[in-house]
Parts: sequence; structure tokens; C-alpha cells
Amino acid sequence: MDAPLTIPTPKNISFEQAATLGVGSYTASLGLFEGLNIPPDHPTSNPEPKDEWVIVFGGAGSVGQYAVQLAKTCGYKVLASCSEGGEEVSNFPNPLSSYRIPSSSTPYTVYCPPSDDGTQLLKSLSATATLNHTLDHANQLAAIRSLTGGNFSRVFDAAGYSYPLAAKALSEISTAAGPKYFTTTDDWSPLDEIPGTKTHRITLGPIGREGEEKLHENIKKYIPVIKTLVEEGTVFTNGVEVLGEGGIEGLKGVLEKGEKGEKGKKGVVMVGGV
Ligand SMILES: NC(=O)c1ccc[n+]([C@@H]2O[C@H](COP(=O)([O-])OP(=O)(O)OC[C@H]3O[C@@H](n4cnc5c(N)ncnc54)[C@H](OP(=O)(O)O)[C@@H]3O)[C@@H](O)[C@H]2O)c1
Repeated sequence: MDAPLTIPTPKNISFEQAATLGVGSYTASLGLFEGLNIPPDHPTSNPEPKDEWVIVFGGAGSVGQYAVQLAKTCGYKVLASCSEGGEEVSNFPNPLSSYRIPSSSTPYTVYCPPSDDGTQLLKSLSATATLNHTLDHANQLAAIRSLTGGNFSRVFDAAGYSYPLAAKALSEISTAAGPKYFTTTDDWSPLDEIPGTKTHRITLGPIGREGEEKLHENIKKYIPVIKTLVEEGTVFTNGVEVLGEGGIEGLKGVLEKGEKGEKGKKGVVMVGGV
């Protein structure tokens, strides 16, 4: 990868955290800023809180965690789905006026979100409400209606599984009068048009390749925003877990054993010293 497409290491995170920052945060940024039509400088311009929801399906995953936090820093109320936590729906007493997380200024603080409990993880990342995605669609839609009152026009499918639910939520529950937006990490399945909705499929895969000027231009706009938000403690990186013994042989071992590490955390293999 060419240096201009990488994020200079934020000064308050560990090397292992920095190694995992790119893909999740770039994918979430492409979804929010290109797909959901939110200006890319919005999160760092300290926008006024909005009385409008963004829905993030798959909010506890790597991409989802960044999508939740970025949407929150843009001033939206965020309803995020996850599978764990034992609660079907949680609405956190999270006043819009305090949506910015207080800055964590200690260098190299490794923030470890409670990754075994999606609801608590999302709460700690400042989601406004959560929804259990193991409920059947009728119940998830009923929960979306009761939590948001239909006051949303932007839906982010971070998991890549949620097109059918998103399509129903946007066409049957959203009360938005203007354009609606749907973005998804699913860049492979055929998807029907959702009435009144612009659909954007995130495609980070070709990053670094020739002929991808538009993608590179976008990524370069996001880099200073992501770095600033991480350094000021507004956006937390994903939890990390170092896997294997390290070195190329260690990498081979991790791959052979199919080690993935703890749910909700990024597995990192230290190939060389730093
Ligand atoms: N198009 C692109 O350019 C691009 C770029 C990056 C990633 N991706 C794709 O994006 C997806 C997410 O990536 P990731 O790195 O964030 O993966 P990840 O960390 O493994 O997260 C996946 C999340 O999906 C959630 N999930 C599983 N089944 C679900 C369902 N039925 N409804 C709603 N959510 C569900 C899981 O939630 P729980 O943990 O709560 O069960 C999990 O948190 C992957 O498919 C990946 O291949 C695409």
C-alpha cells in the first residue's frame, strides 16, 4: 500500500491497535460519507446534535463499531444491532448533548471494549439504542418503529446480511420526506432497488490498485478525520488480541489452526519487530 493511503499512527494507541485501524474505519467512512451522503469533514466540525436516527445493522463488528462511532460524532442518534447481551432492545439514557466521549489522553491506552457482550460494547461506544439481530424480522421491525418513530432516512448494513431488513425498514417504517440512503458492505449479491432510496455498495477491495483514483481521493479525505477522532479519544479502535508466537512461522501456525481470536476483537499476528 502506498504511504498516502495509510493512516499515520495516532499517538495514543498501540502498534497492534494501529495495525487494525485501516480496513474497518475506511469501510465505515466509505459507507457513511459516500453511501449515506454525510459530509466527510462533518465528524471533526463538532456538528449540532440531530433529532434523527442512523440505523447500523451489525454494529458490534469491526466495520459496525466504526460506523456507530462516526455516525454519533456526526450528531445522529444511532440504533445498532448485535446478537449478544441478553436484551432484546436497549434504549440508553444517552443525552444527545454529551455524545462526544471524553478524551483519553494517556498515551498507548489499550481500550478493551467488553467484546463478549454486544449491547454493553455498543453502549460503551455511545450507541443510543441497540436491537438484537437474532429476533425475527417482524420483531426487529417493530422494535425499529417503536425506538425511532420512523425518524430515519439512513441505514448502514455493516454486516452485509441485512439488505432484506433494511429494505423493509426504509420502505415501510421510515417517515422521511426527502431522499433515503442505504449502504452495505455486501458488494457481491444482486440487490433490488429500494423505492425512494439511493443504494451504495461499499467497495474497498481495490484500494491501492491503478485506476482507482476516486476511491483513493476519498480515502485521503478520511485519513485526517480518522486520525483526529482517534487521537482526541472520540473514536475507539476495535479491541485487539495478539495471536500465535509471532514471526512468519507464527503466522503460518495461526493460519493452519484457523485461529480467529475472541469475538468482537481483531486478531493480530506480529510478523516482525517494531
Ligand atoms: N465491501 C467492502 O469493501 C468490505 C470491506 C470490509 C469488510 N467487508 C465485509 O463486511 C462484513 C463485515 O466485516 P467486519 O470486518 O466488520 O466483520 P466482523 O467484525 O466479523 O463483524 C461481522 C458482524 O456481523 C454481525 N452479524 C452476523 N450475522 C448478522 C445478522 N444476521 N444480522 C446482523 N448482523 C449480523 C455480527 O454481529 P454479532 O457479533 O453481534 O453477532 C458481527 O459483529 C464482512 O462480510 C466483510 O467481508 C466488505
